[in-house]
Amino acid sequence: MDTRYSFETLISAEDLAAKVSELGEAITRDYKDKDTVFVGILKGSFIFMADLVRKVQLDRLEICFMMVSSYGSGTRSSGNIIIKKDLENDLEGKHVLIVEDIIDSGNTLTYLKKYLSNRKAASVKVCTILDKPSRRETELVPDYRGFEIPDAFVVGYGLDYDEHFRELPDLCILHMNKEEA
Ligand code: IMP
Ligand code: MG
Repeated sequence: MDTRYSFETLISAEDLAAKVSELGEAITRDYKDKDTVFVGILKGSFIFMADLVRKVQLDRLEICFMMVSSYGSGTRSSGNIIIKKDLENDLEGKHVLIVEDIIDSGNTLTYLKKYLSNRKAASVKVCTILDKPSRRETELVPDYRGFEIPDAFVVGYGLDYDEHFRELPDLCILHMNKEEA
């Protein structure tokens, strides 16, 4: 047991699952009969993507992933985005839905929406399971949103702290315990 951290459940695995089903129904209604590409943003979205694609019913769905990072100072992202893994898929005339774990400043998605629109997609929308609107630095508003959460650092359901804790089934607030002397 790592005594440096403690975990406070913010959203249970059951509540996450129920919300993913709701999002899946809404997306199924809106994207029916469209050529659709879900673009997951690695790594944080991998669990949400896996759950979401099993809750939509779309005949012409492609699933792909990009990996991006933003270099900035500390835990805050900047507008300077580096694409570490790009898409191979042809997006021309297709309806793109970006699948994200959390929107914080909004810098990553503001950049990605523009980048994917430039690849001649018919539309580019955003679906995020979590949103921290109080931290926004851009005007980005997600088209589909699971939960609005307060300004706390969360882990689990795919989200990490220093590459750890992605596997936790519940979404938890991470607390740093004081170092023992
Ligand atoms: P943005 O460009 O500031 O919106 O950055 C969003 C990215 O920051 C997400 O995809 C996450 O990888 C990361 N992030 C933001 N808040 C948290 C958090 O509370 N826990 C874990 N990762 C976070
Ligand atoms: Mg991330």
